[in-house]
Amino acid sequence: MSSAAGGMPDAGGMTAGEETRRGMTAGAGGSRFILERYRELLPVTDATPMVTLGEGGTPLIRSCRLEAELGLEALYFKAEFSNPTGSFKDRGMVLAVAKAAEAGAEAVICASTGNTSASAAAYASRHGLKAIVVVPSGRIAMGKLAQAVAHGAQIVAIDGSFDDALRVVRELAEKHPVALVNSVNPHRIEGQKTGAFEIVDELGAAPDVLCIPVGNAGNITAYWRGFSEYYQMERVGTRPQMWGFQAAGAAPLVSGVPVAHPETIATAIRIGNPATWDGAISARDESEGLIDAVTDEQILEAYRRLAADEGIFCEPASAASLAGLMQQHAAGVDLSGKTAVCIITGHGLKDPDTALQIDADRVESAAESDAVERALGWD
Ligand SMILES: Cc1ncc(COP(=O)(O)O)c(C=O)c1O
Repeated sequence: MSSAAGGMPDAGGMTAGEETRRGMTAGAGGSRFILERYRELLPVTDATPMVTLGEGGTPLIRSCRLEAELGLEALYFKAEFSNPTGSFKDRGMVLAVAKAAEAGAEAVICASTGNTSASAAAYASRHGLKAIVVVPSGRIAMGKLAQAVAHGAQIVAIDGSFDDALRVVRELAEKHPVALVNSVNPHRIEGQKTGAFEIVDELGAAPDVLCIPVGNAGNITAYWRGFSEYYQMERVGTRPQMWGFQAAGAAPLVSGVPVAHPETIATAIRIGNPATWDGAISARDESEGLIDAVTDEQILEAYRRLAADEGIFCEPASAASLAGLMQQHAAGVDLSGKTAVCIITGHGLKDPDTALQIDADRVESAAESDAVERALGWD
């Protein structure tokens, strides 16, 4: 890293921010609740309902194996699956739904590949609002659908893609008194930028490289805004290079043209025409970073390595950040002396079907210890 990061633990340590987070939970001034902690940098007013489910304050976990393998000075995983509904969406949604309630909305609507609907449904129920979610039929992971169902959202499964769903909800929000809470809602990006603040606050500096999966491109836009605001306020002396990664079958920002029929195992980023296209390109260019594509095989390899070697179980889309970093290393990019942070956007339990495709180390046994001994090869 380019500036001092005092007190960082070694690779055997748990996280970069144990001290900080202990402080964050103590006392009003040290709240981990992002709407309070970063209040002066967010569009929060005295009329904004300060409702929280415990979003933000997510761990920055130091790599124990891949860091050395990739030749990095330090590698961290920002565990955004630790947010209340299991994805990074809660950072933006807590603000977007609060602002909708503040404005007197009675219902929120969103298009979703799954995580946005889970988050919108949770915060809407907390605020006593109705949630309507429009999803591509049969194309969202089971766990995410379960969340929307449990929170009582009204679900409309359309015969089309996420891009179709987004077009539909934009049209509906123009005509009906519902608040649109996709990341085209500026409050979503505002809330999500707090992830960048937390990284700088915990490391005491910006990382050299920020690796992030890209779908609709709200999150890469939000992180770049967060780093840039801290930089302009002189809370940090440098900004990271933004390295965004799309799935190869859904990589319009790499090819430069929308993809009519996006395809990837990483359903969360199966998006052919990102709403925040310009934001992603600005983040890439202003940071002298890159946006590249990773194949489903590379995503699954990173997904398995994260779970088996780092103890981190994420959903496939989230592993695109590490897959991209591994790809850069394999292509000969010199990572020595650099600190990288991979944003791990969503929890593995959201997509159990993908996890169960891994060859399990599993045998059947009778319910006796000698039988289990035989099954284990201990006899
Ligand atoms: C788990 C996960 N990772 C990454 C993304 C991509 O984020 P964005 O659409 O802001 O680019 C999403 C979007 O739904 C997601 O759910």
